[in-house]
Amino acid sequence: MNMDKLVSLCKRRGFLFQSSEIYGGLNGFWDYGPLGVELKRNIKEAWWRDMVTAHDDLSTPAGAPSSYEMTGLDCTIIMHPQVWKCSGHYDLFHDFMVDCRESKRRYRHDQVCGRWLEGKKGRVFIAVEETDHAEADLQKRGLKFLNLRGKDVDQLQWDGEIVSLTTIEDFESVLGPDAKEVGTLTTPREFNLMFKTFVGALSGEEGAAFLRPETAQGIFVNFKNVLDSTRVRVPFGIAQMGKSFRNEITPRNFTFRSREFEQMEIEFFCHPDKSHDWYQYWRDRRFRWYTELGLSGERLQLRDHDADELSHYSTGTADIEYAFPFLPAGTFGELEGIAHRGDFDLRSHMEGKLDPATNPLEVEKNEHGQPKWRGSGKDLTYRDDLSGEKFTPHVIEPSAGADRATLAFLCEAYSEDEAPDDKGKMQTRVVMKFHPRIAPIKAAIFPLVKKDGMPEMAKEVYRDLKQHFNVFYDEKGAVGRRYRRQDEAGTPYCVTIDGQSLTDQTVTVRDRDSLDQSRVKISDLAVELQQRLNR
Ligand code: GAP
Repeated sequence: MNMDKLVSLCKRRGFLFQSSEIYGGLNGFWDYGPLGVELKRNIKEAWWRDMVTAHDDLSTPAGAPSSYEMTGLDCTIIMHPQVWKCSGHYDLFHDFMVDCRESKRRYRHDQVCGRWLEGKKGRVFIAVEETDHAEADLQKRGLKFLNLRGKDVDQLQWDGEIVSLTTIEDFESVLGPDAKEVGTLTTPREFNLMFKTFVGALSGEEGAAFLRPETAQGIFVNFKNVLDSTRVRVPFGIAQMGKSFRNEITPRNFTFRSREFEQMEIEFFCHPDKSHDWYQYWRDRRFRWYTELGLSGERLQLRDHDADELSHYSTGTADIEYAFPFLPAGTFGELEGIAHRGDFDLRSHMEGKLDPATNPLEVEKNEHGQPKWRGSGKDLTYRDDLSGEKFTPHVIEPSAGADRATLAFLCEAYSEDEAPDDKGKMQTRVVMKFHPRIAPIKAAIFPLVKKDGMPEMAKEVYRDLKQHFNVFYDEKGAVGRRYRRQDEAGTPYCVTIDGQSLTDQTVTVRDRDSLDQSRVKISDLAVELQQRLNR
């Protein structure tokens, strides 16, 4: 699938627009258009319904150690600054960046790669941004740097393979990705990804606060409120979805790495002895969710982190990854992470920020031997009313991105095939094959022609179906063109009111994927469509 074609369709058909586009756009920020907003809402609603409201608290799902309860929360984006100190984001949530003194551009240290080149200007590390065309970019830059022409490509004396800039120590010998001179990149510096803001009239550090970089912490700090206000018992999960903000150094790949995005997170609280079994359950359950909504097995993978990538307090972390078309062949991008977080978060908010390097975990101390960041001091342990046991629950965290999921479903849906036009001639057709549950529009209603009472009848059908799901009425242009427009929008069914409809009260229902057409009685239409959509 060609990413450029998808990006252009997204703009042309109103799935995604660059934020503030009329002012030149703002890097890392995206707006969802009329079709995009429905698609993303359907994905979020599918997640909420499948994980929370439709979850059966009373039975044991396949693969789960027992039955469990699910509940939800909706917390604020700006929280008490101490939350981020205890969570570790204040100290640890950073990337390394390098700046170019010549081009004034900023790069993420680990997203620049390059190769050593020998030549008349000495040994220089030619750097480029890490993309799927990095090798071609390197060749172009090498030729340009040595004033050679394309046909002289064989004269380039590369030394070694393409390696990450993170492996390079001698920055004086680096030619930055957009520089003409060598040695213009600064050495890597830490950059905290949290957006800072000020609360109230205080503009100094007293009023400083942060836009949340994840929704998870709102759940941890409300753990006690949920326990006290509901009758949930461990094991149970709290779900939350909402905006998160990260001041990414190099936002890129369409919405994949944005600065404002939405997360769909669950913190699942369980007994420490059962936590590994729950981790296994959630990693499999979440993988299945994507396949149930149409992501194909070969482009989706569940990758377990190696033991040496795990914190010692965690017995497992897995990423659900998708082979996005903008990534080099054979590589995958993260859609969701499922992490076993032990009792790290609840204890940090109780006792003070824990030092993740200590084993067993201990509160991190300052130079006076006091907690570096004080916790709330509130009791966030759990007492089992049946066994009387008191413990700090362990947490399994399935953390998904709504925008990344939307992007993956867009990539997966895009397809081109052949279909006959109005004159029966085969034409290439672009069709978005969304799963019916997430399709922005469920059915389009067309009068075949704009006369003979067909529009009136079609409008009645439209008004009736609108009570059940999102349908769209269109009477403009040849019916073949109207079909094409709906194929591009990913509408699973088109309902046409024709001459026969006026006499026998039936309509044709066209299936987006098979192109099959069948006649259905208007009186059965809502039920019939509902059944087909739920298939
Ligand atoms: N609470 C854990 C947590 O936030 P994460 O791996 O940093 O974990 C979880 O983020 C998910 O949020 C990712 O798998 C991804 O889908 C989404 N996400 C993270 N950063 C993002 C960004 N800059 N743009 C879009 N989505 C992002």
